[in-house]
Amino acid sequence: MSRSFLGVASNYSRYKNSTVAFQTIRRISTTQPLSEKQEVNITFVKASGEIIKTKGKVGDTILDIVVNNEIDLDGYGACEGTLTCSTCHLIFTKEVYDSLPDKPTDEELDMLDLAYELSDTSRLGCQIVMTKELDGIEVRVPSTLNDARS
Ligand code: FES
Repeated sequence: MSRSFLGVASNYSRYKNSTVAFQTIRRISTTQPLSEKQEVNITFVKASGEIIKTKGKVGDTILDIVVNNEIDLDGYGACEGTLTCSTCHLIFTKEVYDSLPDKPTDEELDMLDLAYELSDTSRLGCQIVMTKELDGIEVRVPSTLNDARS
């Protein structure tokens, strides 16, 4: 077999492998295009009484919404959603808390134990993924945030 044929065969093999990998990635991606995501409203009520109304998209976490809208919640989301800080602590009404699609994991409960002003309806905002059913919810922001990393 000629050297140039082997070179072509080798390049084809590399091309084929990268194409297969690309097709695999495309097939497993379930992300909806941003333009098709439904908008959702959320209201933050700060301990001072200040009310902040804002919008996000279905599939965003509440932390995403705070970051994307540059909402002024001092120290909020310090670990960027890696479940190591508890600064994204929020308090929900009982009705909203019961309607949240996912129950807290053991890791979230461990982190919540370190949050200040913990209540029976506390959750971490980085773990709450917005659904269209959650459109219009109101969440209370505790007066103090505890960064469990410090
Ligand atoms: S952002 Fe740190 S635990 Fe949620």
